[in-house]
Amino acid sequence: MTRYLVTGGAGFIGSNLIRHLLETRPTAEIVNVDALTYAGNLESLTDVADDPRYTFLRADICDAEAVAAVMDGTDVVLHLAAESHVDRSIVSDAPFVRTNVLGTQTLLAAALAAGVDRFVHVSTDEVYGELPWRDPDDGDPSAPMFTEETPIAPRSPYSASKAASDHLALAYHHTHGMDVVVTRCSNNYGPYQFPEKLIPLMITHALEDRVLPVYGDGLYVRDWIHVLDHCRGILAAADRGGAGRVYNFGGDAEKTNLAVVTTLLAILGKPTDRIEHVKDRPGHDRRYAIDFSRAAEELGWTPQVGFEDGMQDTVRWYLENPTWWERVKSGAYWEWMKEQYG
Ligand code: NAD
Ligand code: DAU
Repeated sequence: MTRYLVTGGAGFIGSNLIRHLLETRPTAEIVNVDALTYAGNLESLTDVADDPRYTFLRADICDAEAVAAVMDGTDVVLHLAAESHVDRSIVSDAPFVRTNVLGTQTLLAAALAAGVDRFVHVSTDEVYGELPWRDPDDGDPSAPMFTEETPIAPRSPYSASKAASDHLALAYHHTHGMDVVVTRCSNNYGPYQFPEKLIPLMITHALEDRVLPVYGDGLYVRDWIHVLDHCRGILAAADRGGAGRVYNFGGDAEKTNLAVVTTLLAILGKPTDRIEHVKDRPGHDRRYAIDFSRAAEELGWTPQVGFEDGMQDTVRWYLENPTWWERVKSGAYWEWMKEQYG
């Protein structure tokens, strides 16, 4: 039996990870610690809620007492809880510093005291900053990519708070000898993603025949990875990663935002005339691209889901689960989003 403490398990990636763990590891015991912020949703886990190997605890990762109590008996921490949305961090950054920095420190201190076997800190490619623009379709193999040696240069309050948490996690390894692994992944998509993020926002807005707001010229480039590939990467890092090592994960699918949106519209059979170029995101990073060769060599990990197949599956999931996203989009948070962004 391995006892996993998953933080942020009611969020997008965390809920997919818990389901994947339960499906693939019969001896896994999982404790999900989540504060249920606007982004946390237990409806993403209703199908596993009664599994005797799964327990949910509503707690804030900044609450040292609650965190110390739940850490007792944990073998592996998979730390995903975070404020995760760049746009929100531009409007209000204090929750990002609190959860992403203080929350991570609280967990690290408790894990050290409890003597856990391994702490996997789930981070992001955004800590590397941005790369110069290039057309994803030009096929230039010499275009720069983020490697684990790329200097840390975050440019949004979100990525700055994640970078701070990465440094803390690695400092616990260097100073205290704690067994820490850091993962940095590109943009995820898939089922149960909160519709504030590009792909679920565009799918659900298109289904509602709303305007599709593309920031600026829409030529910003992201690398897109299916959430299950990220989950497999997190577990590969937990199983086989080196202590104190960092691993990049990417989907080998660089796309402009406009290309992503037009692909989704084609799958949905919807016209492109609802696309509207709107005010750009302040400090918008031009391009991200991931070199995941270290993960391939050391963990035996490569992405398995192709972009087209992943998009088809994701669109299908939102078509089949209107209750999940309609409820999310009618909540108080969504009203706040409309006030901020129209
Ligand atoms: P999400 O916003 O969907 O979920 C975050 C979860 O954390 C929510 O369930 C929320 O309730 C919980 N949470 C927030 N503050 C908390 C607190 N103080 N205490 C306890 N729980 C709290 O995020 P996500 O997209 O699933 O991302 C998960 C992790 O993966 C984050 O650390 C993020 O930085 C990282 N990441 C995300 C992506 C991506 O594309 N979504 C890519 C790379 C890395
Ligand atoms: O790269 C990994 C990161 O990916 C994660 O660390 C973050 O948690 C995750 O939110 C994501 O950050 P992005 O800012 O890249 O994701 P988002 O979906 O918000 O935006 C993707 C791109 O689409 C970005 O260039 C901004 C643009 N965009 C986004 C929205 C919501 C639009 O053009 N219109 C929109 O309405």
